[in-house]
Amino acid sequence: MDSILVTGNGPLNGQIPIAGAKNACLTLMPATLLSEEPLTLTNAPRLSDIKTMTALLQSLGAEVSSLQDGQVLAMSSHDLTSHTADYEIVRKMRASNLVLGPLLARFGQAVVSLPGGCAIGARPMDLHVEGLEALGAEIELKDGYLHAKTTGGLKGAVHEMRFASVGATENIVMAATLAKGTTVLKNAAREPEIVDLVECLRKMGAQISGEGTSTIEIQGVDRLHGATHQVVTDRIELGTYMLAPAMCGGEVELLGGHMKLVESFAAKLDAAGVSVEQTDKGLKVARKNGRVNSVDVVTEPFPGFPTDLQAQMMALMCTADGTSVLEERIFENRFMHAPELVRMGANIEVHGGTATVTGVERLKGAPVMATDLRASVSLILAGLAAEGETTVSRVYHLDRGYEHVVRKLEGVGAKIERIKDL
Ligand code: UD1
Repeated sequence: MDSILVTGNGPLNGQIPIAGAKNACLTLMPATLLSEEPLTLTNAPRLSDIKTMTALLQSLGAEVSSLQDGQVLAMSSHDLTSHTADYEIVRKMRASNLVLGPLLARFGQAVVSLPGGCAIGARPMDLHVEGLEALGAEIELKDGYLHAKTTGGLKGAVHEMRFASVGATENIVMAATLAKGTTVLKNAAREPEIVDLVECLRKMGAQISGEGTSTIEIQGVDRLHGATHQVVTDRIELGTYMLAPAMCGGEVELLGGHMKLVESFAAKLDAAGVSVEQTDKGLKVARKNGRVNSVDVVTEPFPGFPTDLQAQMMALMCTADGTSVLEERIFENRFMHAPELVRMGANIEVHGGTATVTGVERLKGAPVMATDLRASVSLILAGLAAEGETTVSRVYHLDRGYEHVVRKLEGVGAKIERIKDL
């Protein structure tokens, strides 16, 4: 398995282009299943998770071709041959469950493997099932698979989710686009990726309002047509690279970045002593003074502080002046990066869903291991700011969510290389 070697190399300066959002692309791709006509996505990120979703759609009989170095995905679901999402693909990536709503809406049936647990928590699908059942689906669990069907098609309904799940909102909204009548989804998730999905569905002919608020209303239509859509900027990649100059010093401009995508995160950086400025091209980030201050963080659904930036923020807090408390409220087991950061000299105590971090002057390089996507990039950030060499192994996690990470960080002066496992 490849690893990444990082050597602390002082301040970082220059520009980093931010890719299209992985999480938006992973819900936009299954939207192709809702129509017989082609759906084209531009600004798609070049990531292994996108390849996994491509393989899943192809296993259902969809055509997916990637053009212009993978940034354009041309998809067609004209001749689907299967409505079963197999365990072998779903177990690799939980977002595979996003084919459930579209398949059910278009064909009246779907069989989707339950994803099972993953490193960061149990991640069940009860909220997806409850929402689709409210639209009239009959769903049962057999042999590890959800078997869903409708008699006479899905019907619009008023449904309130017990928790604002991102994936459940996406599945329910996609299913409701082809249901008979009106669906009102209350306590819906408000993430920018959901707004992006709705904008694309609207281009395909769906009638939806309220995206970005906690009540989304969908007026079902008979069919959806083809469209071309540009994937929104990846706010998690953006936030991750915003931390690079915050941790190492210097000034970095994140091209394509927009404040509205990272408002609560930028507010925390501001409180920590890091300035974030909107420019014509993106966001410019630099420390206001020397060492950053400690700040407390609680992860919450959007517009709160994103769980997907918690590990990276913890890396920043490791060298902050003072003690910070990070509370993880979305996933029950998302502090696996903490013991690895401790190996680099960090002072962190974890109790349940709370991590208390007391900043040290400087981290020290060490061999460390990543256990999930965001944990692995937090270790790279820590390595950039540490004294000496850090080797991050198991980088296949990184390939799921960060394209050209070495090239992007080298471009602003980082000393980083990928060591190929021969
Ligand atoms: C999405 C993102 C992921 C991010 C997460 C929270 C994608 C592909 N992934 O994941 O990067 O970390 O949002 O912002 O977009 N839950 C249930 N029952 C359900 C569904 C979820 O209990 O039916 C729980 C989960 O276990 C978790 C919490 O709800 O504790 C949040 O999950 P959810 O918002 O659904 O996250 P995902 O859509 O899986």
